[in-house]
Amino acid sequence: MHIQSSDVKIIERAAVLIRDGGLVAMPTETVYGLAADATNNEAVAAIFAAKGRPSFNPLIIHVSDLAMARDYVEVNEIAEKLAAAFWPGPLTLVLPRKRHSTISLLASAGGDTLGVRVPAHPIARALITAADRPLAAPSANRSGKVSPTTAQHVREEFGDAVRVIDGGACTVGIESTVLDLTSSTPLLLRPGGVSQKEIERILGVRISTLALQQGVLKSPGLLESHYAPSLPVRLNVINPTKDEALLAFGPNVPAGAMRVINLSKTGDDREAAARLFAALREVDSSDYSAIAVMPIPDSGLGAAINDRLRRAAAERP
Ligand code: TXA
Ligand code: MG
Repeated sequence: MHIQSSDVKIIERAAVLIRDGGLVAMPTETVYGLAADATNNEAVAAIFAAKGRPSFNPLIIHVSDLAMARDYVEVNEIAEKLAAAFWPGPLTLVLPRKRHSTISLLASAGGDTLGVRVPAHPIARALITAADRPLAAPSANRSGKVSPTTAQHVREEFGDAVRVIDGGACTVGIESTVLDLTSSTPLLLRPGGVSQKEIERILGVRISTLALQQGVLKSPGLLESHYAPSLPVRLNVINPTKDEALLAFGPNVPAGAMRVINLSKTGDDREAAARLFAALREVDSSDYSAIAVMPIPDSGLGAAINDRLRRAAAERP
């Protein structure tokens, strides 16, 4: 995708807004992000306020390249390798915060690490460059809602309260993979747009998913706070009921559901990831009793898809 000349003006204006401490919803290749100047405490606080986040989760810092990342975090050899392989792209690296890093402490939730990534979407990149600031940006949804993958989704969340740059539908459609590189073994904190296998292929070692498993076991309370549609979600469904909406996967779709959206007729994990959040939004209506989802294999981006679906299906408070 290339930037049109009409986009340049929109990006310039958005950059001014960012430098003034405002919020801008920007497209990235994963999901839309609610961006603010990461070095401005008040602007970062405005992100939390707009999202209605119950707690201060650390935010991902979006930078233009590895050189810019080095201004804020200590980059080690593993990070260099992964950046060379996957940046720009859907991989967030958690690294030690530099002692004199100018990133707002609120953005890192007071912690001494920072999650950084270089987004691949040309509009996100152009906005970072035009604003000449690192951008703190969580997904541009209100707390507890599924991430937006179109500009329209963002408008549904925030109305006119937030300026949205329309960059079309997100091509990856699922959030970035979050990998903690602050200890000797890389820890997968969130499966996402880059698969575990792809990372392991580049590093030549296995990465640990222990944090992920423990996170699920230790704090199931965390599950329901994210990615929750209003309707109940039923997983691994082979026999949908007649009042359910079915999210199908693959060529063999069971009959019986009131409505069917096929995430990928060919059973392609990337296509399914790109469609997942839009599909969840689309069927989250009182026309149906529940959202039924067919089994999706864990391979490739399937792991990230199933992670989001488990959260969507978790018991609500
Ligand atoms: O694809 C994405 O990552 C999107 C786009 C907009 O870049 N952003 C996104 O942000 O999904 P958010 O805030 O919805 O999720 C960020 C995740 C959270 O689970 C947060 O806990 C984790 O990244 N994270 C961020 N910084 C961290 C840090 N320093 N240590 C551990 N986890 C961190
Ligand atoms: Mg989010």
